Amino acid sequence: MPEPLLELKNVSAYYGPIRALNQVNMVLYPGEMVCLLGGNASGKSTTLKTILGLVQVGEGEVYFRGERIDPKPTSYRIEKGMAVVPENRRVFPKMTVRENLEMGAYLRNDAKGIKEDLDYVFSLFPRLEERLGQMAGTMSGGEQQMLAMGRALMSRPKLILMDEPSMGLAPKLVETIFKIIKTVNERGITVFVVEQNANIALSIADRGYVLQTGEVVLEGPAQELLHNEAMRRAYLGEV
Ligand SMILES: Nc1ncnc2c1ncn2[C@@H]1O[C@H](COP(=O)(O)OP(=O)(O)OP(=O)(O)O)[C@@H](O)[C@H]1O
Ligand SMILES: [Mg+2]
Repeated sequence: MPEPLLELKNVSAYYGPIRALNQVNMVLYPGEMVCLLGGNASGKSTTLKTILGLVQVGEGEVYFRGERIDPKPTSYRIEKGMAVVPENRRVFPKMTVRENLEMGAYLRNDAKGIKEDLDYVFSLFPRLEERLGQMAGTMSGGEQQMLAMGRALMSRPKLILMDEPSMGLAPKLVETIFKIIKTVNERGITVFVVEQNANIALSIADRGYVLQTGEVVLEGPAQELLHNEAMRRAYLGEV
């Protein structure tokens, strides 16, 4: 096995007296696409926020690229190669599409690389190139999702964390977005994606974790989870 890119060791996290994560263990290897499944309030977003440092670890440790990062600020983790596509595809609404994409590259000064990545983003999302001057807040939900993904890619990350990219999008667009996530992953970027739509996430991910009230209750290769009885009953819409 290669060195993990990301590792959570016995991570618990709290909001005041509420324990949102309980002794969570997860590992992502370079190049993998892993999905994080679970019902509402199971701790999926909290897991991503803990990885990013937006929520502090109560107990346990987080390692990224071989370094213990849970004591480090979010900015450090971003510099080290994390990028996030936040829930509800939060873009900067009063900035143009171009400015949003530039924000994604704000830590870089390699003009040539930035240009290459911009072209890459346009190849994935031609719509963004057509709408460079448009205020991000006036883009449609699907377009904002594309912009949030494009912005994340502009930092040339090692790891992309995505929180429910399919939320509120029409099924056809969800399919397109997941195809693009797969393309990005095949480029070598490790992807950790939170998703309620277990079927679509498991159909393209390598592995998955399932959270329930802050605990990992199931984990394994995506194909195994797809065929797991308990999984099918609880999350894949079967009774
Ligand atoms: N800022 C906060 N303050 C207090 N409690 C919080 C806060 N954020 C989340 N929680 C609680 O932590 C638990 C886990 O929330 P989290 O947002 O991680 O769930 P989730 O799996 O992402 O849910 P959803 O599918 O609805 O997005 C919930 O019970 C939630 O109410
Ligand atoms: Mg959430």
